[in-house]
Amino acid sequence: MGGTSRASSFVRTGRALVSFFGFHRRTTPSADAASSRQSWDRRWGRSDYLPRYEISTVDVAVRHAVEDGWFCPGMRAIDIGCGAGHNAAWLADQGLEVTGVDFADHAIERARSKFGEVAGLHLEVVDVTQANADLGPYDVLVDRGCLQGIDRLLRPNYLRTMLTWSGRGARFLLIMRNQGTLVRRGVGRHRAVDWTPADAVISDACDLLQTDFRFLGAELIDMSGDAYEEALPGVAMRFERSI
Ligand SMILES: C[S@@+](CC[C@H](N)C(=O)[O-])C[C@H]1O[C@@H](n2cnc3c(N)ncnc32)[C@H](O)[C@@H]1O
Repeated sequence: MGGTSRASSFVRTGRALVSFFGFHRRTTPSADAASSRQSWDRRWGRSDYLPRYEISTVDVAVRHAVEDGWFCPGMRAIDIGCGAGHNAAWLADQGLEVTGVDFADHAIERARSKFGEVAGLHLEVVDVTQANADLGPYDVLVDRGCLQGIDRLLRPNYLRTMLTWSGRGARFLLIMRNQGTLVRRGVGRHRAVDWTPADAVISDACDLLQTDFRFLGAELIDMSGDAYEEALPGVAMRFERSI
């Protein structure tokens, strides 16, 4: 397609800046969280919103975790930032007892309208950076694309919630895309450049988790959705709660 090329930042860096009389200042974490929630909710509220990572079935790494017996029927699982709920619904179909949480009301509304009838699936509006001791404990934690967008200052809160929701031995599948720049080439088409190497993604995750979770290994995956023509490189990491 012709159209104007537009370079856009692919990953939210957590460096939200507010222009104020020519200075830039960092917003507070709670202000960032509120604006992030509003912006996600606005996106999910648009009936034509089809995220480039959205799949109609299941992420390959989630499927592998079931196929090789790391996730088993009967386990209690939570899908953190579940969006439209495809992975959560698929896991429930495999016999896990699944709770899908997202802080965007419209995401949960969309997930309920698609998957509200799926047995063993519960969907709730929850902000993972706010303590929520009513949920859990879970045997399985799944995050596909949530942590990667959370402000760095709020990541300790995220970790605290993970610890509240899990016990020793819990299995954590953390899926993050590589950071990079997408050059738009038309509707649904991008050329991806300057991807960070997968080991940078892994060490970023390990920096946060390593005190409480043991890193077991990683799989390099394509996170592009059904309607997407080009690869969206991601890393699926397996962790086990060690303490
Ligand atoms: C990149 S999307 C991934 C959605 C879904 N996991 C998938 O793979 O299709 C990230 C999701 O995380 C949610 N999210 C972001 N920050 C969150 C938070 N603090 N608490 C709960 N959900 C959050 C967003 O609303 C969004 O639905």
